[in-house]
Amino acid sequence: MSDAKGEARKVLICDTTMRDGHQSLLATRMRTSHMLPIAEKVEQVGFYSLEVWGGATFDSCIRYLNEDPWERLRVLRRHYKNSKLQMLLRGQNIVGYKHYADDVLEEFIKRAVDNGLDIFRIFDALNDTRNMEKAIQIVKREGAHAQGTVVYTISPVHDLDFYMRMGAELKEMGVDSLCLKDMAGILAPQPAYEIIKGWKEKLGIMVQLHCHYTSGMASMTYLKAVEAGVDVLDCAISSMALQSSQPATESIVAALKGTPYDTGLDLSLLSEIAQYFKEVRKNYSEFDNASCSPDTNVLTYQIPGGMISNFISQLKEQNALDKLPEVLAEVPRVREDFGYPPLVTPSSQIVGAQAALNVLLGERYKIATNEVKNYMRGYYGRPPAPVNEEVRKKIIGDEKPIDCRPADLIEPELPKAREECASYMEKEEDVVSVALFPQIAPKFLQERMAKKLKVDLELAKQGTEFYPI
Ligand code: CO
Repeated sequence: MSDAKGEARKVLICDTTMRDGHQSLLATRMRTSHMLPIAEKVEQVGFYSLEVWGGATFDSCIRYLNEDPWERLRVLRRHYKNSKLQMLLRGQNIVGYKHYADDVLEEFIKRAVDNGLDIFRIFDALNDTRNMEKAIQIVKREGAHAQGTVVYTISPVHDLDFYMRMGAELKEMGVDSLCLKDMAGILAPQPAYEIIKGWKEKLGIMVQLHCHYTSGMASMTYLKAVEAGVDVLDCAISSMALQSSQPATESIVAALKGTPYDTGLDLSLLSEIAQYFKEVRKNYSEFDNASCSPDTNVLTYQIPGGMISNFISQLKEQNALDKLPEVLAEVPRVREDFGYPPLVTPSSQIVGAQAALNVLLGERYKIATNEVKNYMRGYYGRPPAPVNEEVRKKIIGDEKPIDCRPADLIEPELPKAREECASYMEKEEDVVSVALFPQIAPKFLQERMAKKLKVDLELAKQGTEFYPI
């Protein structure tokens, strides 16, 4: 596109391969060791940034990979010296599924910046900016880039005016850029054009677009976004792209080649990187959920791909896979009752679990999950539209929902976490890990310590080489 002076302005690319790419395609299982050998080539490309941390990767490192997520960040920083490293931060939910106290949020962001993070993409599942404001302030204070995110969804209350207002509100809060986040792959080319054009014209702010390929529309949406003046597009290298992941970097680069929007990236270098990740991907075939055709359920029900695979495994366990069509049809109804929350972590899990319960029990809201009760109490924030009062009454009776920012009601959580890990913490970041994941982080850290003790003991037994007397 041309800017005010009529100069060509190239489109920038953010590479998501090492975060959203494997989160979307390989159940977030890619190990740090597979991200390092290709560093030199990736750094040569000239990406705007690399999204490598946050989202589900923190949890997955501890829960499944026996890796320290902080160590991953440090190692990536060492190997990707010249790249901007980017993360996905779930606002007050940080990298978890509930609201945390401000002290945890603050310490998390500080430590992330210390360990080399440059750009924080901050979102809230309900688009409640009160849940994002604190994170934005802290990121700014720490000198990093705060990207305010608007989660894209479709509902009677999510019109163009909504997106304009929320973008303006985030700019007012001091964000350095805006992200339009389409986690479900439902953003069609035209609305993308209108929203981004509106932001660029009215707010004059840097805009990054994040789409998933799920429904097959994302590349078309990207092209319209480019025409609207988007600055950065999120792409994954072709061998880790498409399906429920991002559009492929090479395709977008080739499509824009020779136009005023030319990314200037080298296709042959990209193809070497694609070849590398093609081989890496083979290591994770047991988690690989690739399917060849676009997922049209997402267009009919607005249900993200990850949610459908959750339903399938959940219903299989209950021996009720035949109920899948009913559950899929129930999701939009629950969403309406809940005031049209976007379906993204953790609201997608909250809505999804309740929809499944409603169908399996044969009566709507006969039983509500704890998360649903808390949602109705206002503990996740303000839903985009008022909830169905009848449903709320059925779930929490006459209890009065809160109307303040949920985290205002949470006492500091770091002191307890510090106490919990006093005997096995090795670094300050361990306290944050324990505060975030009190169910799994202690075991992970204790085992790490036990393993180290064992190694020390063995080294000691080997003699004086390591323990000179
Ligand atoms: Co995503």
